[in-house]
Amino acid sequence: MFGWLRFIALGTAAAAAAAAVTAVAQDALVPIEVVGNGIPTPLTAQPGDPARGKQVVTDATNATCLICHNMPDLPEQPDQGNLAPVMEHPGSKYTAAQLRLRLVNPKLITPDTIMPAYYRVDGLTRVQQQYVGKTIYKPQDVEDVIAYLLTLK
Ligand code: HEC
Repeated sequence: MFGWLRFIALGTAAAAAAAAVTAVAQDALVPIEVVGNGIPTPLTAQPGDPARGKQVVTDATNATCLICHNMPDLPEQPDQGNLAPVMEHPGSKYTAAQLRLRLVNPKLITPDTIMPAYYRVDGLTRVQQQYVGKTIYKPQDVEDVIAYLLTLK
């Protein structure tokens, strides 16, 4: 008879546990300062490595850009997506600061975008279990990807 009460109690405990996980990860995030249409300050002291950034971008196991974007600079990559604009010459079109904001949280640019926020853990919907409380990219991944995209002029 009180089964539903137990259900609510369990649900609350699960929500509290999830909130705790998020809180820990959130504290651990590098502070982000948006200025204008970008994030000018790199997330890491170590400069981005373009070669490693290319590896991150083509890592099919980690929400790769290629699921949605076609990248003409990577013709050897199979199964490129067409859910997003073709990513052509990003190094000529965008500054590092603009790419950083786009990667960290594209919803600040396009509120209803389908593009994932690669460095954000709160305010997300339909997060896959393995990503709950975690960011998709680590700070160095963000910087390495930016460094790679800037080479594509
Ligand atoms: C799930 C689909 C998806 C994934 C994955 C994705 N994007 Fe996007 N991206 C979009 C969509 C859709 C847009 C169009 C504008 C918008 O909705 O924000 C976009 C826009 C962009 C833009 C601006 C392009 C323009 O012409 O306005 C850049 C730059 C970009 N994405 C980079 C990336 C990078 C780099 C990655 C991988 C690290 C990535 N995206 C992963 C869907 C995606």
